[in-house]
Amino acid sequence: MKILAIETSCDETAASLCEAKGGDFRVLSNIVSSQINIHKKYGGVVPEVAARKHAEVIFDVAGRALKTIGLPKPYSKVDLIAVTEGPGLVTSLRVGVLAAQSISMLANIPLVGVNHIEAHLLSAFLTLQKNMRLPRPEYRTRNDGGIEFPAIGLIVSGGHTELVLIKDFGKYKIIGETRDDAVGEAFDKVAKMLNLGYPGGPAISREAEKRITNYELQITNIKLPRPMINSKDFDFSFSGLKTAVLYLTKKMSKAELKKMTPAICREFQDAAVEVLVKKTARAAERYNAAGSERSRRIKSVLVGGGVSANKELRGALEKLDYKVYLPDLEYTGDNATMIAFAGWKKWQRTKKNEVFRVKAEANLAIDKKYRLC
Ligand code: KG4
Ligand code: ZN
Repeated sequence: MKILAIETSCDETAASLCEAKGGDFRVLSNIVSSQINIHKKYGGVVPEVAARKHAEVIFDVAGRALKTIGLPKPYSKVDLIAVTEGPGLVTSLRVGVLAAQSISMLANIPLVGVNHIEAHLLSAFLTLQKNMRLPRPEYRTRNDGGIEFPAIGLIVSGGHTELVLIKDFGKYKIIGETRDDAVGEAFDKVAKMLNLGYPGGPAISREAEKRITNYELQITNIKLPRPMINSKDFDFSFSGLKTAVLYLTKKMSKAELKKMTPAICREFQDAAVEVLVKKTARAAERYNAAGSERSRRIKSVLVGGGVSANKELRGALEKLDYKVYLPDLEYTGDNATMIAFAGWKKWQRTKKNEVFRVKAEANLAIDKKYRLC
């Protein structure tokens, strides 16, 4: 079956065409039209501007995704449509949902709504597909890919930081989340304080990689907090870390701040990574011990979301004593291929056309609708 997926939850208008045959899943196209250059000048995403831009380009982006297979009648060979219904910016989500519903109704194609966070969680599956060798380049589900459940999922994006217990496809339970800022949001806000522009994550990690000079080493005694690192639960808090950077920068002159930026970025990144990795490891240990039966032990750690592009974080997670699965860089940020994959998995479970049910929902929780744990 061919799956057309649409994603418009934030500032990327994305469409993808995938093909699923038996247990195999292949990516035929992955189109992402980014609005970053538009929002850059405002220092962050402006919801009203984002929604308008999505509306302008959505059908063109969907058309480009379909063109890659050169169909004469673009929608005639699509068997399933998957669309992000939440969480995200509600006006942006609405554009994608309305476009998907229109195509679904006019072309008589079933539609499934997908949770954006679930799609990020499963995005590491797309990487395995690439690694499969010819003559079967397609990814075959779990049995071939090695990802086994139950797993611990770590979501690190601009809007969410969550630890999720994944019992199976569609069976999720949030076991920890941020109490204030998401980690990506903290990267973006700290970057703004340091005049590094938007989006902040890549800018901070670039600065952190710069050589720290002797001068900086001598005068820095920068030590930022690792909020909630030792708390017994699996929650996070990144707002205090961000505020600690603010106080630090307030004490510095402009010239000093410029000189110290790489050192501040390195310490900020180290602090964020340390907390994320330690809490993920602890969640895996806790749930490993919780089930005495072997079948209930944690088998894998899945990571997803924009911040999973961060090199330091990737490196530190890979050192854990678990099989850690990270998405390819291409699939760390928002894309529609992950929506197609999660939509396909949902379709396999439900076989239900949701064209009249899907609804843009800003705060859609991953375990609200599917609470089965
Ligand atoms: O998943 P995503 O593309 O969008 C949301 O669903 O929120 O995540 C975007 C976030 C932004 O906050 C961005 O600064 C962050 O991911 N990000 C990074 C890196 N690349 C993107 N954060 C840290 N290091 C990176 N290399
Ligand atoms: Zn996202």
